Amino acid sequence: MKVLKIEGNNKLSGSIRIGGAKNSAVALIPACILTGNLTTLTNVPDITDITDLENILNYLNVEVKRGSSSIVIDPKNLENKLIPAELSCKLRASYYFMSALIARFHKVDMYFPGGCKIGSRPIDQTLKIFRALGCSVIEDGDLFHIETKELIGNTVELDMPSVGATINGIIVAALAEGVTVIKNAAREPEIEDVCELLNKMGAKITGAGTSTVKIEGVKELDGCFHNIIPDRIETGTYVILGCLIGNYLSIDNVNSEHVKSLTDILIEMGADITINDESIVANESKNLMGTTVVTKGYPGFPTDLQQPLMTLLTQAQGKSHVTETIYENRFMNCPYLNKMGANIEFHDREATVLGPNKLKGMDVVATDLRAGASLLLAALKAKGTTRIENAEHILRGYEDLIEKLTNIGAKISIYDE
Ligand code: EPU
Repeated sequence: MKVLKIEGNNKLSGSIRIGGAKNSAVALIPACILTGNLTTLTNVPDITDITDLENILNYLNVEVKRGSSSIVIDPKNLENKLIPAELSCKLRASYYFMSALIARFHKVDMYFPGGCKIGSRPIDQTLKIFRALGCSVIEDGDLFHIETKELIGNTVELDMPSVGATINGIIVAALAEGVTVIKNAAREPEIEDVCELLNKMGAKITGAGTSTVKIEGVKELDGCFHNIIPDRIETGTYVILGCLIGNYLSIDNVNSEHVKSLTDILIEMGADITINDESIVANESKNLMGTTVVTKGYPGFPTDLQQPLMTLLTQAQGKSHVTETIYENRFMNCPYLNKMGANIEFHDREATVLGPNKLKGMDVVATDLRAGASLLLAALKAKGTTRIENAEHILRGYEDLIEKLTNIGAKISIYDE
């Protein structure tokens, strides 16, 4: 188990450079096997989810060369094999290999994907698209057998705008015959990034970033170069950190438009932030006011920033109210925030925060990636020492964590226990 040890309450200043978006990278990498040719991705974040995908690529006999922030993927010897559960169950994004392998081979056997335990996370919408394009799907416990003679484009309306189903649908339809239209599609910037990559590879996709995406299938795709967009959740997490304990903390290499739903809330709370196109400067904000937050699909407030923001709400005056609409189980940071001194009542998908309360260093546990991020922010704000157990969850999504935080003045170390 990895443990983070943090001596809190040190003012943080200087700059943090944001890396490439995790949730783009984890879809772009499987999408690269849609061609038999070389693809180079740059601005690839150095996080364990990428290493897990690299292990899957190696297993499928795909050559991978990783540089400091790039990855070159050569799928000329790609094999269609059942990915062992211990590889595919490490992360949710392993199911992008489902759609990519169906597109290439018209057949795939794969286990139910892994990912943070923040809710039931079904994959029925992805299966709905596979079926609409002609696939038969046999479920054998956790194992899915999916097969078709031919992939024929179709119009599919999603029951909810699922990010994963939209991306899987785009990947599988890219090599299908005819036109596929995905209605009620998710609109996240990561989906636009995937479509940009595929269009560079020769796909014909329009409407990415809107709720109707149209994919005209093509016979084959080619390799390309692609630079991944900045990670909006890493951006938002560090902007919140700046509001907690920053002294002109500059968050650089960002796309400010992608975090507008967060910065709008921060401004409304009275936070001291300056927003430029590619950087955001944040200062510790005194006299923050409580607010109301409801998580939604993009361009609404992202569920992935709900837990980091919860830490800031503990420092705001009065009552804040949070409604989590995407996941059933995304308040697992709250008992630990309360242990550190917060006053949060939570039930089902609703939480009420009464603030402000001083936070004290404690022994806490990261139950998942963003819960871990919330506790990390609390630890950096708190007086005294915090130990965060199961810190490997945090390393799944935040690259060079220790280096980036040490550079801005944090006292933080990581060790195995
Ligand atoms: N849903 C269904 N059926 C489906 C798909 C989704 O019922 O077939 C419902 C579930 O309740 C599910 C919710 O919709 O929990 C959201 O699912 P969605 O498919 O939109 O999310 P995802 O593709 O599984 C991605 C990110 C998550 C992020 C969500 C929402 C990746 C690898 N993961 O998940 O990121 O929370 O979109 O924006 O891209 C994280 O980074 O911490 C993280 C959890």
